[in-house]
Amino acid sequence: MDSVVTRKGKPGDAEDFSRPAFIAVYPEFRGRGLGTNLLGVIEKEAKRIGSRRVALDVEISDEGAIKLYKRLGYDIKRKAPIFKIKDKNFELFNMSKNI
Ligand SMILES: CC(C)(COP(=O)(O)OP(=O)(O)OC[C@H]1O[C@@H](n2cnc3c(N)ncnc32)[C@H](O)[C@@H]1OP(=O)(O)O)[C@@H](O)C(=O)NCCC(=O)NCCS
Repeated sequence: MDSVVTRKGKPGDAEDFSRPAFIAVYPEFRGRGLGTNLLGVIEKEAKRIGSRRVALDVEISDEGAIKLYKRLGYDIKRKAPIFKIKDKNFELFNMSKNI
């Protein structure tokens, strides 16, 4: 994997954070700790490139993922603007964690 996170903003800015490109585990492999490990890798990489915060978006309807992210220390910060792919609207929460 080349880069699991992208760093945004300038060092020291309130808006300085890292964002994973994508988080998903194939349904048949869920519930085995892979998502938790993936977040660990993301946070380690974010630290390595100097970020002090990781931010991610999650679908408002995805209660399982929200529960997992909360358990790992992520807080809901705001509702993100509706994200449209083709004809589908995605309603998202922006969650983040200081690392
Ligand atoms: C959120 C996600 C990454 C978690 O991955 P995972 O490998 O199942 O995570 P873990 O095994 O480390 O943790 C399991 C926790 O995830 C949550 N979870 C969400 N969906 C789950 C599922 N289908 N099966 C089991 N656990 C699920 C549960 O809260 C569970 O917590 P519990 O152990 O207290 O029951 C995975 O469910 C996923 O890919 N969801 C779809 C996300 C998506 O649509 N991404 C695209 C937009 S970025």
